[in-house]
Amino acid sequence: MEALLDRAASVLSAAKRVVVLTGAGISAESGIRTFRDTMEGLWKEFDPQTLATPQAFAADPALVSRWYDHRRIGCLHAEPNPGHAALAQLQQTLLGRGGSFTLVTQNVDRLHQRAGSTGVLELHGNIHIWRCTRTGREMPLPPEPLTEFPIRSPLDPAGLLRPGVVWFGETLPAETLLAAEEAASAAGALLTIGTSAVVYPAAGLIDLAAAAGATTIEINPTTTAASSRVDVVLIAKAGLVLPELLRRMTR
Ligand SMILES: NC(=O)c1ccc[n+]([C@@H]2O[C@H](COP(=O)([O-])OP(=O)(O)OC[C@H]3O[C@@H](n4cnc5c(N)ncnc54)[C@H](O)[C@@H]3O)[C@@H](O)[C@H]2O)c1
Repeated sequence: MEALLDRAASVLSAAKRVVVLTGAGISAESGIRTFRDTMEGLWKEFDPQTLATPQAFAADPALVSRWYDHRRIGCLHAEPNPGHAALAQLQQTLLGRGGSFTLVTQNVDRLHQRAGSTGVLELHGNIHIWRCTRTGREMPLPPEPLTEFPIRSPLDPAGLLRPGVVWFGETLPAETLLAAEEAASAAGALLTIGTSAVVYPAAGLIDLAAAAGATTIEINPTTTAASSRVDVVLIAKAGLVLPELLRRMTR
């Protein structure tokens, strides 16, 4: 592990352009469940992967909105962890050295921004801004849990509010995806953290970067679909290994 950490730190220090791809795992240590965890309490019988679809919302908008509101409040109550904080510091460090840094996330929780990361590319939208199904207009929800579901749109009597996340089967925001692909194609190093690397096109960024000659590094407590194709695999929790990586880059 020591040698792998040193190698990862020197790759990140040497690269002029660094891209970081994060998934649900970086927020696991903040208490936010990944989609592979079983659900808790009232939601025990449901599978997140069947609720996070346009079909599920069309069939039962009250159920899906209630679940997303429950998750939204969970994200508001969660705090960024040392992994989020280390990435915000990594951005400052690399920019301070004249390099470029792009953080691409599949997370919808906004914990990266709350930790101080800027310019975050949110591939799957975010859970705090909802939009009217009729007008497409977006709006934030209040910080308290809602009580009536589905949520009627204040903008159109026939509309509902839906979470501003990208559901399975929906297309990603085109400009955000393009920006992420351009960054990956120009990267000298790509660090993938806390993603099972099975959801595309996000997982394809790892291959784009590798094809362009970037050194690829993975941080995850288990091996993933990407492990066999990356250059350095750090089997560890993000909240432990990221501060250590940063320490080795700045000492
Ligand atoms: N926090 C969030 O915003 C959130 C939470 C759940 C799901 N999602 C959505 O779920 C979809 C699924 O893809 P995904 O790959 O992001 O998540 P995933 O649930 O498929 O995979 C999570 C990965 O995180 C790893 N992990 C668990 N604890 C970790 C830790 N402490 N440090 C590092 N890694 C850890 C797991 O081993 C797993 O490989 C995404 O589209 C995302 O939008 C987002």
